[in-house]
Amino acid sequence: MASYDLIVIGAGPGGYVCAIRAAQLGLKVACVEGRDSLGGTCLNVGCIPSKALLHATHQLHEAEENFEKMGLTGARPKVDWKAMQAYKDDVIAQNTKGVEFLFKKNKVDWLKGWASIPRAGSVKVGEETHEAKNIVIATGSDSAALPGVEVDEDRVVTSTGALSLPKIPKRMAVIGGGVIGLEMGSVYARLGSEVTVIEYLDRLIPGSDGEVAKQFQRLLKRQGMSFILGASVQGAEVLKTKTKLSYKLRKDDSEHMLDTDVVLVATGRKPYTEGLGLDALGVKLTEGGQIATDKRYATNIDGVHAIGDAIEGPMLAHKAEDEGMAVAEILAGQAGHVNYGVIPGVIYTHPEVAAVGETEETLKEAGRAYKVGKFAFMGNGRAKANFAADGFVKILADKETDRILGAHIVGPYAGDLIHEICVALEFGAAAEDVARTCHAHPTYSEAVREAALACGDGAIHA
Ligand code: NAI
Repeated sequence: MASYDLIVIGAGPGGYVCAIRAAQLGLKVACVEGRDSLGGTCLNVGCIPSKALLHATHQLHEAEENFEKMGLTGARPKVDWKAMQAYKDDVIAQNTKGVEFLFKKNKVDWLKGWASIPRAGSVKVGEETHEAKNIVIATGSDSAALPGVEVDEDRVVTSTGALSLPKIPKRMAVIGGGVIGLEMGSVYARLGSEVTVIEYLDRLIPGSDGEVAKQFQRLLKRQGMSFILGASVQGAEVLKTKTKLSYKLRKDDSEHMLDTDVVLVATGRKPYTEGLGLDALGVKLTEGGQIATDKRYATNIDGVHAIGDAIEGPMLAHKAEDEGMAVAEILAGQAGHVNYGVIPGVIYTHPEVAAVGETEETLKEAGRAYKVGKFAFMGNGRAKANFAADGFVKILADKETDRILGAHIVGPYAGDLIHEICVALEFGAAAEDVARTCHAHPTYSEAVREAALACGDGAIHA
C-alpha cells in the first residue's frame, strides 16, 4: 500500500495530463490504468490510430487524383492493408510509450490494473488498496449501444473494430453521420469500399453550422460516399455472405433494407464508469448518466473529482485535457479554469471541418445581431496550387461591436487554422483585429484574414 496526494483513475488524455500537471505542481501522484498501454481510447483506439489511417488514405487519394496533374507519373500505389495496419500500430506504440516516458520523467507512478473506490480516500487496484488525499475519475467513455444492432466487432463494429478490420470491405454501412461515422467512413471510401451513411436527422454533424454541413456533405458525396438522411435504423442481421440492415424513413415511416458487408455503429458514446463502485460510494449522476460535478470538478463525495467524457460536455480529448490541467491546478491550490466558450471541434477528413464559438443557428436563437464574413478557398493562391480549393472560412462577428463570436471552416488544414480564431476569442478580438494582422503569403491562413476582411469593407480576392 502506498499513500499519495492524488490518484487519477484512467490514463487517457484527461487522466494522464492531470497526473503530469499535478506532479509538476509538486503533488505525489499515481495514475491507475488497466490497459496494457497508457493513453486511453484516444491513443489506443481513437484519435491517434484513426488519424494514421486518415493520413495514409489521403496520400492514396492524392496519388490517384492529383499526381498526374502535377506531372508525377508512374505506377499507382497499391494498398497493402497489413502494412497500413502495422504503420498505424507503430504510431500507437510511439505515442503510448511517449506517455510512459512522461510519467517516469514527472515521477508519476503507473498503478497497473482496474480501480475501484471502496471509500473516499482509498483506491483499490487488484488486491492492493492505496490511500489518496484526492481522487480524480477520468475513466472516459464507451460506444453507446443501438437497440436491434448487436456489435460483434467483426461484421458489426464500433470505431474500435473499424480501425482494424481483417480486410477492406466491399460495402460498408455507417450508422450515424457524426464525427466517427464520417471520419472512418471516408477512410474506407478512399480505400475503395462503397460507403453508405444512414443518419437519423435530416443533416450531418448535428450542432454544427448548417451551411458547413451541407457543403461538407456535397464534398463527401463527390468522394463517393452515399447518404440516407432522416432514417432510423431498426436492426442488423448478420448472414453468411452479407449483413442486412433495416431502416425506416422518418418522413413516411416506410421500411427499407440495405445489404452490406460491414456495419459501423457510430451513434454516440456514453460515460464509462463500470466497476468503480460509484453506486455504493453514493456518487451522484446526472440524468444523462454522467458523473455530476461542480465548477471545480468536485463530485458530491469529499475528495472525489471527475473530468473528461465521464462528466458533462463535449466528448473531446482536448476538453478532457483542459479539465485535467484545471483540476490539477485546483488541487494544488491554484485557480484552474476552462473556458467552455472556446473549445474547438474538428473533423479530420479531407477537407477538414473545424468550428469554434457560436453558429448562425445559436445566434439567431439568442436574437443576437451578427454579421458574416465569408471567403472561399477558391480565392486562395496556395489552396489552388495544392488542389485544396474546396470549402470556405466563415467568421461571425457582433453587428455593432465587430467582436468575433464564432468561426466555421471547411477546407485544407481547417483544424489548424481555427486556432487563430480561438486566440482571437480568448482575447475578445474584433474581426478588424484579425483583418489588420499581417498574414504570410502564400498560406491557407490568408483565407481566415480574408473572411475577417469580409466582416468589414470586403475581402480582396473575392
Ligand atoms: P456523434 O454524436 O458525433 O454522432 C452520432 C450521430 O448518430 C448523430 O448524428 C445522431 O443523430 C446519429 N444517430 C443516433 N442514433 C441513430 C440511429 N438510430 N440511426 C441513425 N443515426 C443515428 O457520435 P460519434 O460520431 O459516435 O462520436 C462519439 C463522440 O466521440 C462524439 O462526442 C465525438 O465528438 C467524439 N469524437 C470526436 C472526434 C474528433 O474530435 N475528431 C473523433 C471521433 C469521436
